Amino acid sequence: MRSGEGRAPGRRAADPLSLSLPPVGGGNGASSDLPSPPRGEGPGERGSHPRTILVALALLLLAVPAAAADAERGRAIVVDRTKGLCLLCHSGPFPEQRAMGTLAPDLAGVGARLTLPEIRQRLADPAATNPDTVMPSYARTDGLVRVAGPLRGRPILTDQEIDDVAAFLATLK
Ligand code: HEC
Repeated sequence: MRSGEGRAPGRRAADPLSLSLPPVGGGNGASSDLPSPPRGEGPGERGSHPRTILVALALLLLAVPAAAADAERGRAIVVDRTKGLCLLCHSGPFPEQRAMGTLAPDLAGVGARLTLPEIRQRLADPAATNPDTVMPSYARTDGLVRVAGPLRGRPILTDQEIDDVAAFLATLK
């Protein structure tokens, strides 16, 4: 995430303004007074613009995880049969769903039965409350067997998605 920083720090410190200037093809703009070798590492002036974007992106990325959990997105994940697949086992207050599972507790009222952290733990590590559970961990990436190549090393749901699902379930009171 920091990859945009630390590159040519000297130049940045000397003239932070050059960071926000658009590239002017060889226009010898803000940094013309610098003794820096513009042609050395990549195209001199032009380098500052992508770096501006990188810095902006890095700041954005830092801001994104702070985004609040989105219950509506969470509901979509729960009913999505290609994603959460929760309704393979669970039923719940989803009138638009024609078939739902009967293997697991109905999700209606789960927000009254469990706290938000408890719900989150059920999703991330169901075996913590029941070592014999058939419910998969939606966060785990290790200890799994026969995972298809492209899916290896990836959890079923991202942290953000688990937050969204938990936020949604917490509303089911
Ligand atoms: C393969 C079946 C299966 C799938 C798929 C599954 N679960 Fe479960 N889940 C269970 C079972 C069985 C339980 C009952 C407790 C246990 O076995 O740990 C459970 C328990 C829970 C609980 C605790 C319920 C309570 O009232 O105590 C929550 C919350 C939950 N599941 C949410 C989900 C969500 C959300 C998904 C999809 C992202 C999901 N589950 C997918 C089988 C499943």
